[in-house]
Amino acid sequence: MEQKILEIKKNALAEIDNVSDGKTLEEVKNKYLSRASELNALKKGLKDVAPELRPKIGALTNEVSKEIELLINQKAEKFYAEELNKKLEAEKIDVTLPSTFEPVGHIHPLTKTINEITEIFELLGFSLIKNEFSPEIETEKYNFDLLNVPKEHPARDVQDTYYAKSAVNVVLRSQTSNSQVRQMQNSKPPIKIISPGRVYRSESVSARKNNLFHQIEGLYVDKNVTFSDLKGVLNEFIRLYFGSSRPTRFRNSFFPFTEPSAEVDVQCIMCHGKGCPTCSGTGWLEILGSGMVDPNVLKAVNIDPEIYSGFAFGMGVERLAMLKYAIDDIRLFFNNDVRFLNQF
Ligand code: DAH
Repeated sequence: MEQKILEIKKNALAEIDNVSDGKTLEEVKNKYLSRASELNALKKGLKDVAPELRPKIGALTNEVSKEIELLINQKAEKFYAEELNKKLEAEKIDVTLPSTFEPVGHIHPLTKTINEITEIFELLGFSLIKNEFSPEIETEKYNFDLLNVPKEHPARDVQDTYYAKSAVNVVLRSQTSNSQVRQMQNSKPPIKIISPGRVYRSESVSARKNNLFHQIEGLYVDKNVTFSDLKGVLNEFIRLYFGSSRPTRFRNSFFPFTEPSAEVDVQCIMCHGKGCPTCSGTGWLEILGSGMVDPNVLKAVNIDPEIYSGFAFGMGVERLAMLKYAIDDIRLFFNNDVRFLNQF
């Protein structure tokens, strides 16, 4: 029996020595160490061995299986290390190679300006309007009629507004004020919203005018909203947007949908009021239109002007961006010239 065990050992050691891959090693392991192995059978047969020989034979079987196991494990570790080295070698990174250049995108200056202005008004308690209340393709009813714009008003002329050829009374909106009306029709006061978006006007394109541009509309309707609220909010907006206590002035004006109406000027950011080409020598730059919502507009959307009042304002995004970043040609925003866009 002892002979037999030593022979198994000899064979096993020879086979292990010959193995050159993990799969064969696994087979060898099965052959010599599994339940079905010869050694195991010998262990089971130990009870038939003469009692005085049992301890010796038992110890030998254990010793041999331990030794085989040890050798197999050593070999397995060796294979693992070789495998790992191969993998590391294959995946080696050459840090001296030049890297690929991934250009970083920029936020468009108009988007940046809209975000900035929106954040300021959110700070002042205004919420962004829902998209469905601010369509760019609009009916005359919402772009003009419900805003108290008379039928014969020059803004309705095809010289100023784009009309659809295939549908009656459909326009590309000429102002974001349409969203005021839609918001008031769809909710009850208090209403405190801002609404940024594209507007279209039939203009000949120049350094100062483009036929597509962006506006931000604001509306606040509640009980006891006054002209001082309007001044407070807009002054605070200007302070936060231009970043200093820049002088402002409220100039009497007229819009069909507000009464009274005011245009708001800031002191020229170029010459600080001295007078220069940017401000046409006046020292002031107009930045927005505003006013107290006309009672006719409130009535048209079933809000009682005896109970509620409100103010509204509208500003041109391109103009505000041009003033802040000293840009002198509006067309730069639309040409997609990366030399311009990279600066933002
Ligand atoms: N919609 C006007 C425009 O396009 C701007 C404006 C003026 C909007 C006064 C308002 C407002 O809401 O109250 O010129």
